[in-house]
Amino acid sequence: MNNFQFHNPTRIIFGKGTSDSIGEWTAKYGKTVLLVYGGGSIKSSGLYDRALTQLEAAGVKVHELAGIEPNPRLTTVKRGIELCRAQGVDFILAIGGGSVIDAAKAIAAGVPYKGDVWDFFTNQARIQEALPLGTVLTLAATGSEMNGNTVVSNWEEKLKRGAGSPLLNPVFSILDPVLTYSVPRNQTVYGSVDIMSHVFEQYFSLTPDTPLQERLCESILQTVIENVELALDNPEHYEARANLMWCGTMALNGGLISVGVRNDWASHGIEHEISAIYDIPHGGGLAVVFPNWMKYVHKERIDRFVQYAERVWGIKTEGKSQEEAALAGIQATREFFTRIGAEARLADFGIGSDQLERMAEEAVRYGPIGSFKVLAKDDVKAILELSL
Ligand code: NZQ
Ligand code: ZN
Repeated sequence: MNNFQFHNPTRIIFGKGTSDSIGEWTAKYGKTVLLVYGGGSIKSSGLYDRALTQLEAAGVKVHELAGIEPNPRLTTVKRGIELCRAQGVDFILAIGGGSVIDAAKAIAAGVPYKGDVWDFFTNQARIQEALPLGTVLTLAATGSEMNGNTVVSNWEEKLKRGAGSPLLNPVFSILDPVLTYSVPRNQTVYGSVDIMSHVFEQYFSLTPDTPLQERLCESILQTVIENVELALDNPEHYEARANLMWCGTMALNGGLISVGVRNDWASHGIEHEISAIYDIPHGGGLAVVFPNWMKYVHKERIDRFVQYAERVWGIKTEGKSQEEAALAGIQATREFFTRIGAEARLADFGIGSDQLERMAEEAVRYGPIGSFKVLAKDDVKAILELSL
């Protein structure tokens, strides 16, 4: 295990009915608030009206930025920054999924910054100041509710990039699993694939002697596997929704499950290049890429893949070679993603080979990616070709 520090300043307010405390928590931090939300799901669920009533009762002045796109766009973030400056906003409240929260974080970083907020996403500037923000999560997926990351798309340049700072950790996040009852079937699937993928990025590591971290990862994977279909069969299954939500937060909250472990994150890098150009759901892209990444890299540390097959999928490895056992675990992953309804090939999204070269090039723009196996451009291209 490597040396590490761990600090996570986000307060989690979890459980049924906690969305009745939006006004109370917001009023602790802000007087003039920018309410950021997406394309309308919070209106049809009634959450928008409930939130506004609470905010008004708490004496908070509200300005709104509606219509954050899935895969949030830089142009929208810039509108939010202008709005905050013009209205003297002192706190941002994001109500929605990862896209809404990420847009809110980018706005928070952009308001006090004199330059172009995109600088943070191209490594040209570091975030040194940010407005505080709080979130009300409506979709279990990214972990953005308890981490300092933001991912934004520059649609004009077909680039999708991440930035991060502890300053972007929400001061509070309200996690009421009931709010996820209305999440459509496909987004429940994509969110679950994303959660599992966050764990994979931390679990498939070359760092030795990390038994607790490995078991934490395995337990999240098993919990997601046990609960996705319960939520798909019965969208109002409280326990399933609650378990998925907590798995999502635990899977990517500043590295709690993988402290002292070198992470990989190559598959995320590759997926971001796909959704940058084709605007597909992040979890959908990961369902295609991850099993192919696994096939491509598994020989680097085959015992970890054997352990994965055994412990996560319950595959009997006796009588099998290491290679057979590892491939059985990878196959189980593919079959599970397919069974719950995720896409298996880029072609399922209507994506062909014409932008492969560009995606591979952009993925390694700042150098080779990954650590389990360090991937150069040709490796990324090979994984994309396996994914066609
Ligand atoms: O826009 P609305 O109307 O709210 O609808 C959304 C959207 O269409 C809908 N939805 C959300 N909650 C709902 C709901 N519909 C009905 N009922 C509800 N309760 O779901 C759709 C997808 O929402 P989105 O926020 O885009 O999904 P997700 O949470 O998966 O976020 C994806 C974005 O997060 C980034 C991804 O790249 C992508 O841009 N990521 C952010 C990370 C982070 N900040 O740490 C890490 C991730 O790896 C990821 O890269
Ligand atoms: Zn992800």
